[in-house]
Amino acid sequence: MSDNRPILFFDSGVGGLSVLAPTRLLLPNAPIVYAADNGGFPYGTKSEAEIAARVPALLGRLVERYHPRLVVIACNTASTIALGAVRAALDLPVVGTVPAIKPAAAQSSARAIGVLGTNATVRQPYVDDLSARFAADCLVLRHGSARLVELAEARLRGEATDPADYATVMAGLLDQPGGDRIDTIVLACTHFPLVEAELAAASPRPLSFVHGGDGIARRIAFLTEGQQWPANPAPGIALFTAPFDVPPGLTAGLRDYGLDEIHFL
Ligand code: SIN
Repeated sequence: MSDNRPILFFDSGVGGLSVLAPTRLLLPNAPIVYAADNGGFPYGTKSEAEIAARVPALLGRLVERYHPRLVVIACNTASTIALGAVRAALDLPVVGTVPAIKPAAAQSSARAIGVLGTNATVRQPYVDDLSARFAADCLVLRHGSARLVELAEARLRGEATDPADYATVMAGLLDQPGGDRIDTIVLACTHFPLVEAELAAASPRPLSFVHGGDGIARRIAFLTEGQQWPANPAPGIALFTAPFDVPPGLTAGLRDYGLDEIHFL
């Protein structure tokens, strides 16, 4: 018998689509609900206390409404702050997104990596722990950018963005002492892979960019192995926490990720 329970993705905005995309490749028939907390966006400039209160409460409401088989917190800021609380509150598997420092350190031949995230993510002790565990012999430089989150949202809506903005972000990371040694950059915000090409074009030299999307997709496939998927899944749902007039560019952008219906909480 087919099982129509969806996988629920959660992010502050559209960044989690960089996790949804590789998941869809592995599990094409998985029903999807993609929840964007536009009512709380952006997370990267909020306090830990605000995120720690907001994310578990919202996920509780979403689980009640959609009865997912699995929850994916497709947001580094929310995961590094609230993953433990969400897991404790929900009686179902919860997958989080943490900065891909381990694979970045494993591939850096210069032993110098950069971590680009939101301001909230880059200051988390979780990032100190990951650096100490997996990149102890590397120089690890960090840079937080709220602007890059806005640029990724604009790109998804199909809007033009200014290359100079990406160059400013890269300079914020690479112009720090030792930054000239960096050969590998962790995109530690799920929004940032959506503008990876723009970041690469704005880089002063070729750099490798690493993020967790593929690894999370494999983890989701592993956790759902052997589960039944519908032969013809219902259209994917994009859920927004606050109603607004959805611009046509956003509707088209969401459709590219298989999200054909738009709901509001
Ligand atoms: C943001 O809302 O600032 C981005 C959240 C994230 O993916 O870390």
